[in-house]
Amino acid sequence: AKKMIVDCDAGMDDASALFLAAKAHKVGVLELVAITTTHGNTTLNNVVRNVARTLTAANLNQIPIYRGAHTSLVEPVVMDDPFHGSDGFGDSNHDEEPDLRHLQQEHAVNALVRLVKENPDEITLVALGPLTNLALAMRLDDQFASNLKELYIMGGNVEGIGNITVSAEFNFHCDPEAAYVVLQNIKCPTYIASWELCLHRAKLDWDWRINSYGAVDSPQCRLMNKIEAQTIARRYFDTYIVCDQLAVAAAIDPRYVTQKSLHYATVELSGNYTRGQMVVDYGKKIVGKTPNVYLIDRVDIELFKKMMLWSLDAPSV
Ligand code: BDR
Ligand code: CA
Repeated sequence: AKKMIVDCDAGMDDASALFLAAKAHKVGVLELVAITTTHGNTTLNNVVRNVARTLTAANLNQIPIYRGAHTSLVEPVVMDDPFHGSDGFGDSNHDEEPDLRHLQQEHAVNALVRLVKENPDEITLVALGPLTNLALAMRLDDQFASNLKELYIMGGNVEGIGNITVSAEFNFHCDPEAAYVVLQNIKCPTYIASWELCLHRAKLDWDWRINSYGAVDSPQCRLMNKIEAQTIARRYFDTYIVCDQLAVAAAIDPRYVTQKSLHYATVELSGNYTRGQMVVDYGKKIVGKTPNVYLIDRVDIELFKKMMLWSLDAPSV
């Protein structure tokens, strides 16, 4: 089974994505080696607590959790995006404290460097938040990038459509310099699930969210319904938008990606409106750089829906 580390900023869709990874681990499709945490959707402390709650719901508390970067490399982000709520979990109330027994002392960046060094060419790294931990790992160990087996990133945008500023996607916006460092140092096959993939190509109906995904009798489903109660009530978009789940699904089952394309991509670090925007040289080689990322262009939605239900332990899948 392939070894996977998930770096995340849970986050509601991070939780749902972790359920996919957890299920794949439980059935032996992969070995979930660690969860590393970063700032992003909420404070690092909240992220750690949210990851622990998610692992408890998946009955997988033994997976080690590592605390990572608490803020971005250069410009701290003001966390005023109401989408995930002040706790990152939709301002949901929980009766019990999270189980933090498997929270490790070692810093997430050191753990990433160590685990990848111990398992050269074996680790699939999936990044679901700002890329601060990855950039620091690349700076700490110049072999880190080349020792990775593959990298999946939810982040960036391919058409200049932003979801937090006019032209930047949230994860890249939170730490543009980290995203820049990561994209400049890629040395393994790297797959990007962009914001526009989520927005245009992977849409799910609210009816499916509520009456299929939301109707499973399991702890994982109860957690998703609890933390997404406000999202469901507010219906920010016409459809139920998923993000981090797309990157994990691609890492679990290659059949899920039905079309991808190889390009050179980097990140805009300045600009009045464009800081944090991913910039893609669409195969035109205008900037003369070697292509570094596969953009995920199309996905199999029917397979994805099955995987999402499977991740909640739905009986019929
Ligand atoms: C990304 O930002 C966060 O809000 C989500 O968890 C996802 O990782 C989408 O832009
Ligand atoms: Ca996330």
